[in-house]
Amino acid sequence: MIESIDHNSSQLNSQGQLKHFLTTQDLPVEILHEILDTANSFLDMSAQQVKKVPLLRGKTVVNLFFEPSTRTSSTFELAAKRLSADVLNLNISSSSTTKGETLKDTLMTLEAMHADMFVVRHFDSGAAHFIANQVTPKIAVINAGDGRHAHPTQAMLDMLTIQRCKGGFKGLVVAIVGDILHSRVARSQIHALKTLGVAEIRVIAPKTLLPKNIEAMGVKVFTNFSQGIKDCDVVGMLRLQKERMNSALLPSEAEFFKLYGLSTEKLKLAKPDAIVMHPGPINRGVEIESAVADGPQSTILQQVTNGIAVRMAVMSMAITGQLNEANHQSMVK
Ligand code: NCD
Repeated sequence: MIESIDHNSSQLNSQGQLKHFLTTQDLPVEILHEILDTANSFLDMSAQQVKKVPLLRGKTVVNLFFEPSTRTSSTFELAAKRLSADVLNLNISSSSTTKGETLKDTLMTLEAMHADMFVVRHFDSGAAHFIANQVTPKIAVINAGDGRHAHPTQAMLDMLTIQRCKGGFKGLVVAIVGDILHSRVARSQIHALKTLGVAEIRVIAPKTLLPKNIEAMGVKVFTNFSQGIKDCDVVGMLRLQKERMNSALLPSEAEFFKLYGLSTEKLKLAKPDAIVMHPGPINRGVEIESAVADGPQSTILQQVTNGIAVRMAVMSMAITGQLNEANHQSMVK
């Protein structure tokens, strides 16, 4: 475990532009809107015959995945390719005891290959910040999920989905349901939703799956599902992250579904036009009924499509931010 997360490692360059994307926490609202606007323009482009733009031509993107992933790694790869970058995919399984050493060695090796961007997924909270602090200043670091800490591109693709389905954020009531305790997605969603100014953020979970002091993040806590989901505009479901549970926090999956699973019946308590999001992978019959996952209110597949556009947006913004910073530094020297 990388114990202390150095929140000072700035994501912004000296002109206030994105140069790494590590967390949605404390990012200015203008940057969040810039990500959404840029992603919206890439979405329009993806609908065209020619899907490629030369924004990252000549750049090398390394996908550095220390934890298994399907949709995140493949959409990052597609995003980089649609920006015309050269892409190297590295799936590294490493033991946590030797990791500290291994990580530094891996980074130095990749730097020697003149990589321009690292997309990092790691099982330790704080790994992306750690890497951003370790690498030479020219390299942009994008967090693709670190431990239970943050998953900022997932949160922003969820924000894009909300914006496109609901027309904006004002006045919305958003519920996040399930394993909040182990979820980097929930944390990053809460930070982004707060900054974008929704009316109310609710979290719905059994006490054992709620982090201590979650109220301090500015959310309303519900342990009763029916009360929590009532009149919501957006329902964000989460998977039970069993790989991060080191003790029995639940009686059984069947019991969990009965109390906290989203069924067609329970969804009727939300607003009639409420959308249902899920970052995937979904566990049918555990946190969500198949009829809901495949139903008309589900945005699960739209989220995947939106993920490519959001990842293209943050990659192109971070490369530009790094380049502008290098030019700025050479001028002031
Ligand atoms: C999420 C993750 O990895 O944090 N999934 C994803 O990025 N597609 C959520 C999860 O694993 O449940």
